[in-house]
Amino acid sequence: MAGAAAKTLPRHVAITMDGNGRWAAARGLGRAAGHKAGLGPVRMCIQECSQRNIEALTLFAFSSENWARPAAEVGSLMGLFFDSLEAEISELQARNVAMRFIGARRRLPVRLQAQLAAAEERTAGNTGLKLQVAVSYGGRWDIVQAAAQLARECASGALRAEEITEERFAQATTLGHCDAELVIRTGGEQRLSNFLLWHCAYAELYFTPRLWPDFGVADLEEALDFFAARERRFGLLSGQVAS
Ligand code: FPP
Repeated sequence: MAGAAAKTLPRHVAITMDGNGRWAAARGLGRAAGHKAGLGPVRMCIQECSQRNIEALTLFAFSSENWARPAAEVGSLMGLFFDSLEAEISELQARNVAMRFIGARRRLPVRLQAQLAAAEERTAGNTGLKLQVAVSYGGRWDIVQAAAQLARECASGALRAEEITEERFAQATTLGHCDAELVIRTGGEQRLSNFLLWHCAYAELYFTPRLWPDFGVADLEEALDFFAARERRFGLLSGQVAS
């Protein structure tokens, strides 16, 4: 553990949890069973990130595009979100986790919307891990809603177009100034699939063929080792970063 504590950790880890369906199919199970099995690694990542004092963990639970999946799968995922939050909220509170949900919430079932708002309210004062769950979320949606918000402010006279800087734009996104430093995607695909587009500008991208329900502590450790080995230059030269 001493070695693990010494390495450079990302402040914000973001994860696309892919591979639940294939994990279930390989066992002759329905897709819902794969999503349910995905709760194990969710718990593990929250616990491990908390213990390592990582500031923020963002999980991609349901994308804008996932609404087009068969109604039965969408329904079972909405049920799983509701049930798992109900079952875990006390534990999250005890772990000092502050929860936020990002995405087009008005598309979600009303009772889920109410539950998400209650979980945010209950954990708002917590000072530990910021757990940000992307539900009904798309990176393009986020950029468009930020642009619309700024356009409204310009129309009302509260803001001038010349005052729109990257800083000001970032503030209008759902996460605000919370750039992802490490993005992990399980399941073998090597793409962003509309996740956190604004906040991934300088993220290190880590892809693993491991299916999400099989993602364990050793896999997370490997991703953190990958991050620690990267030189983060932000457009500078290596010598500039060193000095
Ligand atoms: C993608 O795998 C996964 C999802 C669309 C759902 C992810 C949800 C969970 C892990 C459930 C719990 C999450 C929280 C935060 C409560 P896929 O179905 O596209 O897999 P496939 O590519 O193998 O078909």
